[in-house]
Amino acid sequence: MKAILYREHGPANVMHYVDLPDPSVGRGQILVRLAAASVAPFDWKLRAGHLRDHFTLPMPSIPGRDGAGEVIAVGDDVTEFAIGDRASVVAGVFSQGCYAEKIACDARNAVRIPDNLNFVEAAALSNPGRSAWICLRTAEVKSGDKVLVHAGAGAVGGLLVQLCHHIGANVTATCRAANLDYVLGLGANHVVAYDQEDFTALRDRDVVFDLVGGDVHDRSYQVLKRGGRLIWLVADPIIDRSAEFGVTVTRAMITDDKEVLQSMMDLAEAGMLKPQVARTMQLQDAAEAHRLMEAGAISRGRLVLTMG
Ligand SMILES: NC(=O)c1ccc[n+]([C@@H]2O[C@H](COP(=O)([O-])OP(=O)(O)OC[C@H]3O[C@@H](n4cnc5c(N)ncnc54)[C@H](OP(=O)(O)O)[C@@H]3O)[C@@H](O)[C@H]2O)c1
Repeated sequence: MKAILYREHGPANVMHYVDLPDPSVGRGQILVRLAAASVAPFDWKLRAGHLRDHFTLPMPSIPGRDGAGEVIAVGDDVTEFAIGDRASVVAGVFSQGCYAEKIACDARNAVRIPDNLNFVEAAALSNPGRSAWICLRTAEVKSGDKVLVHAGAGAVGGLLVQLCHHIGANVTATCRAANLDYVLGLGANHVVAYDQEDFTALRDRDVVFDLVGGDVHDRSYQVLKRGGRLIWLVADPIIDRSAEFGVTVTRAMITDDKEVLQSMMDLAEAGMLKPQVARTMQLQDAAEAHRLMEAGAISRGRLVLTMG
């Protein structure tokens, strides 16, 4: 099979398009012919070596945690999938990733794709969907809450805007001015262009989702009402100012929870959530895809690699 492989941490050009033996299906696994793999910020940060304090990656490594494709073999003990099923898979951090034409994946880390989603949409929904859902659950957002979603045009933020709107919250989101209409179209009631306006003019928010970190995190405390909740999920450390402002600050711990992924697929199947695809590129162009993401040039959803 064709795959993207790197043997050392470094810039995007450490990734190479190579031929590898096909994986074989093991106990509890399904073998999937991948049609799509999403490119997440985690992928390039891991490749660059920025997450070395958290993960010691075995080398060589095939990147990409989220993929979608057709089941072509099942392990003897797997009953929930059959050959021909369309599956969304989450690869382990330390096992083979999804930038490849095939993957043998634990069935417990896969769900069936609803008929109304194509492979690209399913791959685009997986990590941002799980992340948005866990953020929402952590914040306990309820109808009528005044919510600020930072990075509303990003992959996670775009789904959070949709989910908060669906719950009946009053949603304000930040994005660059060029994305104002896009984010309003996702269901935001109000949008603040971070490149033209200062979001700290806002007041009395029940919840702020910080998907940016740094200075944006630091300045978010002042827009919360007392007792409000600040939820964050970026890898950078924060300065906890919760006591100063009388709010709670909580890191959303994103896991590979299969039930969460299933919930996202169910919401998409019911038409309550639309996966956001920024653009597609071919598998062999993975290095360029990483460069674009690293440069902040990917907006309005996930960049997805396609195979074949
Ligand atoms: N802990 C975890 O497991 C986990 C899981 C998922 C994501 N994350 C982290 O969460 C963050 C967001 O993830 P993502 O996948 O949504 O990333 P993404 O799709 O790359 O989106 C990033 C967005 O940030 C926006 N942005 C940049 N600077 C901003 C600012 N000053 N104010 C408001 N928005 C700004 C950009 O908006 P414009 O396009 O409008 O410029 C862009 O759309 C990343 O840091 C990622 O690593 C962590």
